[in-house]
Amino acid sequence: MARIKMVAGNWKMNKNLQEGVALATELKEAVKNPKCAVVIGTPFIHLATVSELLKGSAIKVAAENCADHEKGAYTGEISAEMVKSTGAEYVILGHSERRQYYAESYAMLEAKVRLALANGLKVIFCIGEIKEEREAGQQNEVVKAQLEGSVFGLSAEEWKNIVLAYEPVWAIGTGLTATPEQAQEIHAYIRSLVAEKYGKEAAEDTTILYGGSCNEKNAAELFACPDIDGGLIGGAALVAEKFLAIIAAR
Ligand code: 13P
Repeated sequence: MARIKMVAGNWKMNKNLQEGVALATELKEAVKNPKCAVVIGTPFIHLATVSELLKGSAIKVAAENCADHEKGAYTGEISAEMVKSTGAEYVILGHSERRQYYAESYAMLEAKVRLALANGLKVIFCIGEIKEEREAGQQNEVVKAQLEGSVFGLSAEEWKNIVLAYEPVWAIGTGLTATPEQAQEIHAYIRSLVAEKYGKEAAEDTTILYGGSCNEKNAAELFACPDIDGGLIGGAALVAEKFLAIIAAR
């Protein structure tokens, strides 16, 4: 099985429903035969409408989070089963903004990942170090701990539904992109960790995305690296023209 190349957007907390529908409509019309998988991560309230709109198109839909409990008295939370029922096929988990602003722990993320997989969702699992950790040369230890803490307990069968996204926190929304060399080096390291855990073949089949100020100008150079299988795009995914140019670069 060949590794899947992918460009995924993460809209974060941007676009009201009407704006989101307008952007999804524009993308649907423009993305006909992409050379890679295309996914858009939208706010929860957009999921049902956007999934229906994109049904049968080349674009898949992702939630940006899901609950760490199955169901019940958790006011305001959205379960993995609810996400799945909208027609969404993916969920982004472990984003640094969730870890940082909402104190999502390794254990909480493991629970979310397991519930997502149990409900038939594929997971885009984010890892990455903060600026101080990069400056101290600790990036490898950090991503290793994040993988061991939340996803390396999965079975080999479950692992097939995991896409990894390396997102150095210092590069997110800062305009400061990891150089292709920096990104390739750590992507290769991440793939070696997957090989140690799940075997060489599984590692070769694992999609590893880069995220962090990836845009229409630097995408081609990043995607040319052998261990960078695509991108997880924030800001540039909010503008159809830019997101389409990134898809074209993959
Ligand atoms: P930016 O592309 O805006 O830096 O965001 C990256 C990101 O966090 C995607 O999940």
